[in-house]
Amino acid sequence: MSVLVAFASRYGATRQIAQQIGAVLSVAGHDVRVRPTTAVGDLRDHEAVVLGSSIYRGHWMEQATTFAQEHQAELAQRPVWLFSSGLLGPEQPATDLDRFAALLGARDRQLFAGALEVRRLDLVDRALRLSPTRRHALRPGDYRDWVDIDHWAHQIAAQLSSSAHA
Ligand SMILES: Cc1cc2nc3c(=O)[nH]c(=O)nc-3n(C[C@H](O)[C@H](O)[C@H](O)COP(=O)(O)O)c2cc1C
Repeated sequence: MSVLVAFASRYGATRQIAQQIGAVLSVAGHDVRVRPTTAVGDLRDHEAVVLGSSIYRGHWMEQATTFAQEHQAELAQRPVWLFSSGLLGPEQPATDLDRFAALLGARDRQLFAGALEVRRLDLVDRALRLSPTRRHALRPGDYRDWVDIDHWAHQIAAQLSSSAHA
């Protein structure tokens, strides 16, 4: 099947997760495009979509929410999987991940641990990271679990194959 893996990423951690998901789907025999949401026109050429964003201050990046809203009708007609990457974990309040999963009828949603490298942050994000409420939660490091990511991507590949043969 032709699959779009669309992502919104500020510093690259989520882009690499999207690329890894794309690689797994590709090895499983699917025709995969991995693209930033801002580089996607319409969804005509894509039979299924995986959409992911990093979380900043409790929300998906704006380009991911814009993508989900602008393509809502097309996404609702296709099998869709959603993921977020962040450092605060599932204890943060109701997320865009849940909201868009309901709105788009997503097959599944997944919150992945992300990565944060202080020297790459712009000045605004450096200051925000150090605000008293976030200082302890946003610890620099690469917390991405590639086994977890691969596992989720394999589940998508299996579901795609079974719908292709249905
Ligand atoms: C200023 C700032 C705010 C953040 N806010 C959140 C947040 O609210 N929830 C969360 O889970 N992670 C938060 N993070 C962590 C990022 O989502 C995480 O580092 C992510 O993997 C970055 O992905 P990217 O490089 O693709 O943008 C924040 C990071 C920074 C620097």
